Amino acid sequence: MECNKIIEMLLTSVNAIAFTGAGISTASGIPDFRGPNGLWKKYSPELASIEYFKKDPKGFWEFYSLRMRGLFTAKPNPAHYALAKLEKLGLIKAVITQNIDGLHQMAGSKNVIELHGTMRRCYCTNCFKEYKSEEILERIDKGENPPKCSCGGIIRPDVVLFGEPVYRIHEALEIARESDLVLVVGSSLSVYPANLIPLTVKEYGGRVIIINAEETEMDHIADLIIRDKAEVVLPCVVEEIENQTLHRSS
Ligand code: APR
Repeated sequence: MECNKIIEMLLTSVNAIAFTGAGISTASGIPDFRGPNGLWKKYSPELASIEYFKKDPKGFWEFYSLRMRGLFTAKPNPAHYALAKLEKLGLIKAVITQNIDGLHQMAGSKNVIELHGTMRRCYCTNCFKEYKSEEILERIDKGENPPKCSCGGIIRPDVVLFGEPVYRIHEALEIARESDLVLVVGSSLSVYPANLIPLTVKEYGGRVIIINAEETEMDHIADLIIRDKAEVVLPCVVEEIENQTLHRSS
């Protein structure tokens, strides 16, 4: 079973990390971007760019509030819980994610680096006052679009839009340089500079496992490719590790 190969690589690593993309959240009902039903198959990525936000904040929020609504009903799925468990078992040190849904933290992962920010928080573009996204969504639903701060500034989600620098990339690259194994889960690995994370692990002598439903742009650097669903594979890994630990202690 493929799980055993992942377990063998996890148990023989001392500094493993996970790197996740939208594919880990599709089982939670959040569409990915480039899969068969991906968001960018229906909408232009332009809608998620800083240029568009500046040109047409109302149109931006019409698109973004659609995405945000789906977020508040989404719950972590077995893949998120499995990564949180691997961190608890000391088998992964951090989750570096491209996702903005906050589901890793909801599932119990503690050391999470959100390269693309979070859709759960908003801030004023003028005075930087922070707002909960639930409150902003309510105001938009009542017709306040674009949502404005008490200072008059326009409010935006605390996410990295196309054309903006990503968050915490230097910290993430430092972690990648020191990692001897990266578990890539649910990413096409097509977006720079996030896709430098698995590349850096490889370049610094680490191993790369890719768990993805389809081919990715970095399959050529993988030491192991699992072409399967994250919510199937990761729970199997955790269950098998726990069984092995049980047998050893009995
Ligand atoms: N299990 C495993 N893989 C899956 C699953 C699943 N249940 N569901 C989807 N996938 C795979 C898809 O086949 C696809 O290859 O996950 C991958 C997701 O790739 P993308 O949709 O490109 O998402 P991601 O790699 O996270 O995109 C990176 O692009 O648009 C920007 O900011 C956005 O953070 C995002 C970035």
